[in-house]
Amino acid sequence: MKVLVVGGAGYVGSHAVRALEAAGHEAWVFDNLFQGHRAAVPKGKLIQGDLLQPSDLTSALERTGAEAVMHFAALSLVGESVTDPARYYENNVVGTLHLLEAMRAKGVWRLVFSSTAATYGEPETSPISEDAPQLPINPYGRTKLAIEHALQSYSTAYGFGCAALRYFNAAGAHASGEIGEDHSPETHLIPIVLQVALGQREHITIFGDDYPTPDGTCIRDYIHVDDLADAHVRALEQLQPHAMLQLNLGTGHGFSVRQVIDACRQVTGHPLPEVVGPKRAGDPPELVANSARAQSLLDWQPEFTTARAVVESAWRWHQAHPHGFDDRSP
Ligand code: UFG
Repeated sequence: MKVLVVGGAGYVGSHAVRALEAAGHEAWVFDNLFQGHRAAVPKGKLIQGDLLQPSDLTSALERTGAEAVMHFAALSLVGESVTDPARYYENNVVGTLHLLEAMRAKGVWRLVFSSTAATYGEPETSPISEDAPQLPINPYGRTKLAIEHALQSYSTAYGFGCAALRYFNAAGAHASGEIGEDHSPETHLIPIVLQVALGQREHITIFGDDYPTPDGTCIRDYIHVDDLADAHVRALEQLQPHAMLQLNLGTGHGFSVRQVIDACRQVTGHPLPEVVGPKRAGDPPELVANSARAQSLLDWQPEFTTARAVVESAWRWHQAHPHGFDDRSP
């Protein structure tokens, strides 16, 4: 299938491009390169454009003859979404509506969308299944939930076949070593801990150690980015008109912040000094996926199920690219 990957120069999107190509699909990347990296896109496959410019989208769909879209482009910093919600609603919600309209105009009905565990807010049960109430507690999560609702409506009214894939904590890097995580600023736990191992930071600050968890630090479900990418391709291949899939993507295993730091110590051999700081606003104590639905509907199994395996993969990338995509070896 010809697939337009919107946000395909970003972290998860660039891994999905590799997975699409490995599965025999033809992937084209649409990205404004605000957060994405040109170097993450295979040569000749980048169409530079903006979701907020409807004509950019229409011409990209025309030029590629896309039969399907994967949509990764979003602003995704929880804290920033609280202080600047207007940007989040405009970029995430308005931008996605432009995409849906461009697809409708061109008769493209297949869409795989990056949703998030943040749509569940602070769930009362763990692991979280798709039936848990979606009560996001910040504008980022609310924008993603608003889009899920729009997809449901477009599916019913216009025949779109959609998959909203709710990721837990994406982590790790591509097996090739060519692409990996490179955010600016970096806010995610594993890359920050590995920056300490690389000598780029003095210590890791643990955001709170009095949560109601066994070691007092937050528990998350770290899902490898290649496992995520694989699930996207499987979801794409199963889309049916007038139907919407809503699936959690996680491993079902939760690791605390301290367990992740310990895994980083084992993998890097660095002592990784830690300091306990205040809690970060809006961090739920525990987010672990029940991914049984994705496993059965997509015939999908995450390959990386230990903190150590995920960290080893991330470490290979960060060691080879200590400054991310700016540090390309010749
Ligand atoms: N953490 C630290 N110190 C740091 C960075 C993170 O202790 O320097 C902790 C956080 O408090 C959290 C855990 O490590 O408990 C993981 O934090 P990340 O920032 O790596 O990931 P989040 O769980 O906050 O974020 C993920 C997704 C977001 C999504 C959010 C929903 O990356 O897109 O889950 O809660 F919005």
